[in-house]
Amino acid sequence: MFAADPERARHFTIPIGDLVVDLSKNPWDDDIRRALVRLAESADVAGAWRRMRSGEAINLTEGRAVGHTWLRTPRTESTMVDGVDVVADANDLLDRMLEFVDDVHAGRVVAADGSRFTDIVNVGIGGSDLGPRLAYEALRAHRVEGVRAHFVSNVDPANAADVLGSLDPRRTLVVIASKTFTTDETMANARLIREWLPADGDRQICAVTTDTDRAIEFGVAPDRCFPFREWVGGRYSIGSSVGLVLALTIGSHAFREFLAGQRTIDEHVDSAPPNENGPLLLALLGIWNAVAGGVTSKAVVPYSYDLRSLPAFLQQLDMESNGKSVHRDGSPVSVATAPIVWGAAGTDAQHAFFQLLHQGTPKVAVDFVGFAVGHDEPRSQHETLVANLIAQSRALAFGRPESATERLPAAAHRRFPGNRPNTVVLAPRLTPSTLGQIIALYEHVVFFQGWLWDINSFDQFGVELGKEMATEVRSELEGRPSSTSDSSTRMLTEWCRAHRSSSGG
Ligand code: F6P
Repeated sequence: MFAADPERARHFTIPIGDLVVDLSKNPWDDDIRRALVRLAESADVAGAWRRMRSGEAINLTEGRAVGHTWLRTPRTESTMVDGVDVVADANDLLDRMLEFVDDVHAGRVVAADGSRFTDIVNVGIGGSDLGPRLAYEALRAHRVEGVRAHFVSNVDPANAADVLGSLDPRRTLVVIASKTFTTDETMANARLIREWLPADGDRQICAVTTDTDRAIEFGVAPDRCFPFREWVGGRYSIGSSVGLVLALTIGSHAFREFLAGQRTIDEHVDSAPPNENGPLLLALLGIWNAVAGGVTSKAVVPYSYDLRSLPAFLQQLDMESNGKSVHRDGSPVSVATAPIVWGAAGTDAQHAFFQLLHQGTPKVAVDFVGFAVGHDEPRSQHETLVANLIAQSRALAFGRPESATERLPAAAHRRFPGNRPNTVVLAPRLTPSTLGQIIALYEHVVFFQGWLWDINSFDQFGVELGKEMATEVRSELEGRPSSTSDSSTRMLTEWCRAHRSSSGG
C-alpha cells in the first residue's frame, strides 16, 4: 500500500491538538476508511458523544451520567443535569482543591509541628491510583521542588512497608483516594497508615471521594475532604480531585494546563467531522484490526521512561471499560471486544517482548507513543530513543524478506514478515498539556469503541465476584470451612494454613 501511494503517510496521519497520529502502518485504505466511517455514522457515534456531553444517563446499568469531560469544561458552558449545573459544580470543586494546593505550597498548610510537608502518600487502587501515578511519573520534569509523591495501592503490606520505610511521619501528607471509600485494599492501607502517623496527625490526612460522610466517619477533617461526583468513573477520574496528589506535586497552574490539554481533545471531538476525528478513527481502526486481522492484543510502548506506567493505566481504561460480553440491552456480544492491553517502555521492551512482535504468531497491534524532544541530557541519547521508536514501527510494518539475508546461515529464521499493524502517536514534548491530550485521546477511543460494540463502557461488574469470594476464602484461611467451597479452594487454603502453622505464622 505504501508503494501504491507515495503520499500514504500524509493521507493517514491526523493532527490532534499538539499530537500527530500516524495510522498509515495499518492494513487499511481509503475505501476501508470510508466504509468504517459509514459504520460509525450508522451507529450514530456523534449522537452518542452528544448524549454523553449533555448528561444523559448513558451508563444504563448504574443509571448514571458519564461526566469526566465536564471536569475540564469552562464555566461558560453550563450543563444542567437533574437541576444541577454540573460544569459549575466541577469548577467549584476544582477551585477549592487548588486553593488547598496553593496553601500547601505557600506554607499556609503545614505539618503539626509547623514544618512543610516533604512527602505525599496517595493511598488508592485502580482508577484512584493508576492515573495519578502515571501523571506523577510522567511530569517528573514539571514537579515543584521539595515534595515527592509515593503510592500505596496493593493490599500486600509489603507495599506500605516499602513506601513508609523511608518517610518521616511528621512531614508526610496522606491522601486517601477512593470513589466509594469502601474498597477493601484502600481502607486496610488507610487504617495502617493512620496508625503510622503521629497521634496528633489527623490533619495530615486528606480524603478524595464521592462519599465525604464515610471519610469524616473515618476521621478525616471536613475541610480536608475533596469530593468528586458519582458521574466520574474511577478510571476516568484523574482530572477530578483524584488528581490531588498530582496537583500537590506539579502545582495548580500545571494541573490546570493538564486539564486544558484534555479539553483540547474534547474540543477536537466536538468539532471534527468523522473522517478527521482522531479518537474515532483510532477506535474504528482497532475494530478493523480485530475483525479483519484477528488482532486481539494491543501492546502499548511509550518511548519515554517517564511514561512507563502508560500501559498499566490503559490496561484499566480499556479492559475494565470494554472487557464485556453483553450488549447494552443484556444480549450476548458475538465479536471480540476490548483487546488485551499490555506493554512496557521502549527501549526496555525491545529486549523483552519485541521478538514475538516481529516474528511470533500471535496477532498484536502496537501503539508507539513518543516525544520529539526530551527533558534530559545528553540530547543525543534522546535522539537514539526516537530513532528506535520510528525504526521499530518501520520494521514491524515493512519487515525483511528471507532473500535479503539468504547468504547468512539460518536465513529462514532471519525473515521478518512485516505487515504488523502499528500506530505512532507523537507529541513535541512531555508536558502537562500533552499528557492531558494523550490521556483524553485514549479515553475517547475507548468511548467510541464501546459505543460501536454497543456495550456499556462505564460499569465493571466483572470485578465483583472475585472480591466477594475473597471474603469467603478469607474465612476458610482462618479455619472456618465453607460448605459452598470446592476441592481446589479447600486444598489451597489448607496448604497455606499448614505452612503458616509450621512456620509459626
Ligand atoms: O477495580 C474495581 C474498581 O471499582 C475500579 O473501577 C476503581 O477504579 C477501583 O476499584 C477503586 O475504587 P475506589 O476508588 O472506589 O476505591
